[in-house]
Amino acid sequence: MRAVPIKCVPENADDIKRNCADMSSCVFRTAFSGADAMTDTKELLQKIAALRTRLSEPAVPATADPVRAIEAKVERGSLHNAMLESALRHADPSPVQAALASFRLTARGIRLLRQGREMLQSLRTIADDAEFQQADEADAIALWHREGMAMIEVILRTIQAMPASVSAQLRMCDGLEVVLAEVEERVSRLHSNLAQRKHQAARIDELADYLRALASKQPVSLTPLQGLADLILDEARGAQPLRFLYAAPTDPSRFAAAHSLTVAQVLARLIFDCSEWQAQAQLAVMVALVHDVGMTRVPADLLLTEGPLDSEQRRLIEKHVVIAEAMLLPLWPGGGWTIEAAACHHERNDGTGYPLGQQEIHLAPFVQLLAVCDVYAALCTQRPHRPAFDTRTALTETLLLAERDYLHKPSAERLLLLSFYPVGSMVELNDGAVARVIATHPGEIGLTHPDRPIVHLIADAQGQAIEWPIVLDLCEQKDRSIVRGLKAEERQAMLGKRHPQWM
Ligand SMILES: [Fe+2]
Ligand SMILES: [Fe+2]
Repeated sequence: MRAVPIKCVPENADDIKRNCADMSSCVFRTAFSGADAMTDTKELLQKIAALRTRLSEPAVPATADPVRAIEAKVERGSLHNAMLESALRHADPSPVQAALASFRLTARGIRLLRQGREMLQSLRTIADDAEFQQADEADAIALWHREGMAMIEVILRTIQAMPASVSAQLRMCDGLEVVLAEVEERVSRLHSNLAQRKHQAARIDELADYLRALASKQPVSLTPLQGLADLILDEARGAQPLRFLYAAPTDPSRFAAAHSLTVAQVLARLIFDCSEWQAQAQLAVMVALVHDVGMTRVPADLLLTEGPLDSEQRRLIEKHVVIAEAMLLPLWPGGGWTIEAAACHHERNDGTGYPLGQQEIHLAPFVQLLAVCDVYAALCTQRPHRPAFDTRTALTETLLLAERDYLHKPSAERLLLLSFYPVGSMVELNDGAVARVIATHPGEIGLTHPDRPIVHLIADAQGQAIEWPIVLDLCEQKDRSIVRGLKAEERQAMLGKRHPQWM
């Protein structure tokens, strides 16, 4: 508001005399000294009336002066400011309110402050999430959260330190809004990542409960197992990433469930479009989900052993296939390959397997295929005594085992359909670019070109992020090839910054 030089308008001669004694014209002193005084008084009253009229006129129209227009907005914003201050005081005492009381923010600044507070609340909610609290400091979502909190702090502290100048505030808002948009993006991706983790954890819990019920001879229905198998097959048909799930052996049922889910995912990708298996695909995946039900009875401390096992420990672990048959018979009372799969998936063609350990043992084709998926899934996942193998090494190792007649060779070769780098893998190309595998080739092409899947470029040879989606079929791009899969820490560094939802 423009400064007013006179504090009040005089209403009568006494007021005029009292309030305007310091006026420079001196007419007031002479107004009461004689006849002329009446004229002077009249003139004075006219001047005062004119002054009163001028003061009562509206100020310069707001639209005529942009600065004045912004100032008017600030005036209006002060009301919202007070309201926000009140709301914040109730929500969470903070130095922000103190700052708000001491200066005026533009409406844009207030909106920014409100949005910043909302993002802060979202980040706090994420921090309270049980799934989030399981992430260690190096986890991508922990990093994203820390950076998001830091950016919000910058926004809120900068708002507190904003200068009184409206134009300066608006310039600062330009920058702060960009930072806020980045935080919003991160919050959105954090939610997406957490939802995915919860989904996986819930799936592990669901199967672990089912396995526990089976192991304890409680009555169970095939329906939930069928539903889970259908979901896994749908994911395979939809070229969803192959996720190597892991649960700590401290809970043997969850440990067995996570492993079995991985085996089922691998198997589903090998059979979903195979005419030989299509009619029994659902049943095959169901069997994969329960093949290690006997592991629920292996003591946790034995599963956690990091060193070599003695003979007694090995006997206890090998027992899981012996007890599985009785646990699964209520599901498939007629027996057949479904039961055989649980009982014999550790038998080996060269007689080195268990529990029978016979050479030239005749195993049903599905049992041979399940054994291959079981070995590959186990190699790709960490164990207390070793880290996870990268997918190319795991596939090569499995093929070598088949080459030595340890596993069924034609079944092992079907793993090539996954490619050396299954969907979801991060890879480095020969020109230094980084890409994510998004699809593999079916049929003969997939079997003969396991090193040439279809990829989505993430970063160019200089490590710069590629904003536009570029998809390459490496079977057609003969001058480009994959030189290696990225390790977990490299993947974290690459995806954790921009795509934690893909971690
Ligand atoms: Fe097993
Ligand atoms: Fe297994």
